[in-house]
Amino acid sequence: MQKTYFIETYGCQMNVADSELVESILKREGYCATQNMHAADAIFINTCAIREHAEEKVHSRLGTFHKVKKERPEVIVGVLGCMAQNLKDELLENKPYIDIILGPDSYRSLSDVFSRKTKYNGNVVDTKLSRFEVYDDLFPSRKEGVNAWISIMRGCDKFCTFCIVPFTRGRERSRSVESIRQEASEAVANGFVEVTLLGQNVNSYRHEKRKFHHLLEEVASVSGLKRIRYISPHPQDVTDELLSVMAAYPVICNSIHLPLQAGSNRILKRMNRTYSKEHFIALADKIRAYLPGVGISTDIIVGFPGEQEADFRETLNVMDSVKFDSAFTFKYSPRPYTKAEQYSDQIPEVVKQERLQLVIDVQRKNTLLQNRKMIGKVEMILVEKDSKRAADQWAGRTDSNKWVIFDKCDAKIKDLVPVRIMDAKGISLHGELLETEEVLL
Ligand code: SAH
Ligand code: SF4
Ligand code: F3S
Repeated sequence: MQKTYFIETYGCQMNVADSELVESILKREGYCATQNMHAADAIFINTCAIREHAEEKVHSRLGTFHKVKKERPEVIVGVLGCMAQNLKDELLENKPYIDIILGPDSYRSLSDVFSRKTKYNGNVVDTKLSRFEVYDDLFPSRKEGVNAWISIMRGCDKFCTFCIVPFTRGRERSRSVESIRQEASEAVANGFVEVTLLGQNVNSYRHEKRKFHHLLEEVASVSGLKRIRYISPHPQDVTDELLSVMAAYPVICNSIHLPLQAGSNRILKRMNRTYSKEHFIALADKIRAYLPGVGISTDIIVGFPGEQEADFRETLNVMDSVKFDSAFTFKYSPRPYTKAEQYSDQIPEVVKQERLQLVIDVQRKNTLLQNRKMIGKVEMILVEKDSKRAADQWAGRTDSNKWVIFDKCDAKIKDLVPVRIMDAKGISLHGELLETEEVLL
């Protein structure tokens, strides 16, 4: 009988894409996927270390994996991804039931690992980070869908003082333009209509002399693609060339993720973010000048060490001034290896919680404000999935990355259809599908 694997993924889209790579290696090794971890021959968890809470979730899932191992000692338990470094130490101390620990640059060795496991039956740990590994020749095993994730670069050299990513993912390196183009073409051949280019620092992509805007142009020329998105860019690398390319190609979505993190120059400096509040606001203005109607989203951290009330107010002020379309908001979480973890002026949990609530409230107001501006407009929506609320409604996104709910009528998943926006509630918009003739009139 064919052997089976079960895999569960935590963290960012890079991890989703990495799990797809791992699946393609497992399939080559003769395994097939199962959704039932209690029946699988090998069970994997792909982990995230970005905040303490992410790690706690993984530890709690590992408790369940441990139970499965007790019931069936022959099952192979594998831990992958960004927590590999931390788990390595813990494994040596108290998690002997884990058979395999592989860091993000070691997935290629999965095939040897399987042969080594059957031969030696000991634990296999490989958490070395590589300066070169980009898995260029390994195409991921994707399920059917609308969007294909394509990793274009790996690692991060920015070393923001709060962030563990440079330690879990290692140094920046990029794939060749040709292999990325080829992967995008294959995704289209397999029925995908949208690609999202991925990297921890996606716009610092550089392969030989080609930069991110060159790559975007190349991917924009892949025929059959309806949409191109990318995450996560860093404000420092948002260049005029990039904005010109985005403006020139309608297939590149009119949305940009611009992580602010904090609004006070003192805190930005302590975070090593490399831009000032003034630079950030000017950049947001420039983006809007190049790309009318663009959607701008952000990430914000509250309670970074040393953040005084006045610093925090500046974050709220920048939010008020830029009026982001949406925001991911986080309480600062001290991370091992990072500089900020060693700062002595950590902020109490209650203060972080209060500040988090305030940024959420401001953002909720701004999201509604920005969404209301859309009422009455006709937007092209890519039909992506069933709406959670009603079986006879679709959910799809505008190219500015806003979710719109509308009656299905005769639209199908993967269609790009005109929808008139009728209402803005919470974070999503509600609309009415138009006949193509209505749009032409
Ligand atoms: N490379 C991306 C960020 C990836 S991590 C960028 O620079 O934008 C995603 C988000 O998690 C970050 O933008 C930050 O807001 C948040 N984050 C990272 N480390 C964190 C920490 N220690 N505590 C709280 N939030 C953190
Ligand atoms: Fe982390 Fe900063 Fe790199 Fe983003 S740019 S992954 S926040 S170190
Ligand atoms: Fe988490 Fe690693 Fe992504 S730490 S956010 S899975 S790069």
